[in-house]
Amino acid sequence: MPRKAAKKQTRKPYRIAVIGGDGTGPEVVAEGLKVLAAAAKACGFAYETREFDFSGKRYLARGGDPTKPSIPVITDEEIQTLRAFDAIYLGAVGDPNVAPGILEKGLLLRLRFELDQYINLRPVKLYPGVPCPLADKGPEDVDFVIVRENTEDLYTGMGGIQYKGTPHEVATQVMCNTRRGVERCVRYAFELCRRRNDQKMLTLVHKTNVLTYAGDLWHRTFLEVGEEYPDIKKDYNHVDACCMWMVKNPEYYDTIVTGNMFGDIITDLGAMIQGGMGIAAGGNINPDGLSMFEPIGGSAPKYTGQGKINPLAAIGALAMLLGEIGEGKAAERVEKAIAHVTAKKLKGLAAGRMGYTTSEVGDLVAEAVAAG
Ligand code: IPM
Ligand code: MN
Repeated sequence: MPRKAAKKQTRKPYRIAVIGGDGTGPEVVAEGLKVLAAAAKACGFAYETREFDFSGKRYLARGGDPTKPSIPVITDEEIQTLRAFDAIYLGAVGDPNVAPGILEKGLLLRLRFELDQYINLRPVKLYPGVPCPLADKGPEDVDFVIVRENTEDLYTGMGGIQYKGTPHEVATQVMCNTRRGVERCVRYAFELCRRRNDQKMLTLVHKTNVLTYAGDLWHRTFLEVGEEYPDIKKDYNHVDACCMWMVKNPEYYDTIVTGNMFGDIITDLGAMIQGGMGIAAGGNINPDGLSMFEPIGGSAPKYTGQGKINPLAAIGALAMLLGEIGEGKAAERVEKAIAHVTAKKLKGLAAGRMGYTTSEVGDLVAEAVAAG
């Protein structure tokens, strides 16, 4: 992906907050840090890391109720501490001993919202040597990027339950969109599409035939902001049709912009057509603030501690982190190293089927980064 110019012209070391998190998160992050060390050496930048132990284990150890949120997963002070960093590098969130939702809301979504990381950027790129589940499609066909809005929509938590447990129970979950929220996301996507300099086509994905309020806001905003980008072709797909085209004609896409919920769903589809969760990386981006990078797969608890999990997604997330803090050359070098390892070394991408352990894959990428 194209990189933007360095944010800070400073020789101070970059400060990177590291949250290994749950399950295999710490293992894959360790490999990413190996690659970071190699990239810093090769490209001549300095950095410091600080590890934070936010996780399901810590929540339970502090007396958190495993069935419902009872204490903060991370505190306000801890969020304040994070604000002093240049980027956050996150492993995974999700612990089988803690009810679903507690850690996701208490850690991941909390950070996305509080740090106003309003873009969730998810490249869908098939690396060389990676088997694609789509017949007759190769790296030249699967190379686009999804810009998912990351702070609104069904994720705001607006809504509620009435008459719970009775036959009259009512549950609402509001798809809340603001003009400001939609506009800043759409503008980011137009800018990114321009920088990619690919087909120069931005596809809005929504469901305007049914969601006539939210869809209308997105569509109008898209067209209005689009007037500022005469060089970019404006395209629209309903979300269901988009799922179809992603499988049938992935080469059609250049840049996609969409809301939070549809983006959550289509980026998992995107992850599969680029070779699966072992390789899919993403960034939670606040373009003017603190961003957080993560592999998009989960914590894979059944593989914890076995050295079987694929660290490439986490290493790809590290490449995105480097691009965002302004180390574009290092980012490209890491991406090239990943491509070298997928093309020349790995037997497969699935956990336990790589032909190497987690740590050996990290070594291979770090070596390729050093070799340049
Ligand atoms: C993702 C995840 C999260 C989301 C979950 C863990 C809350 O699926 O990052 O895509 O829904 O955004
Ligand atoms: Mn998801």
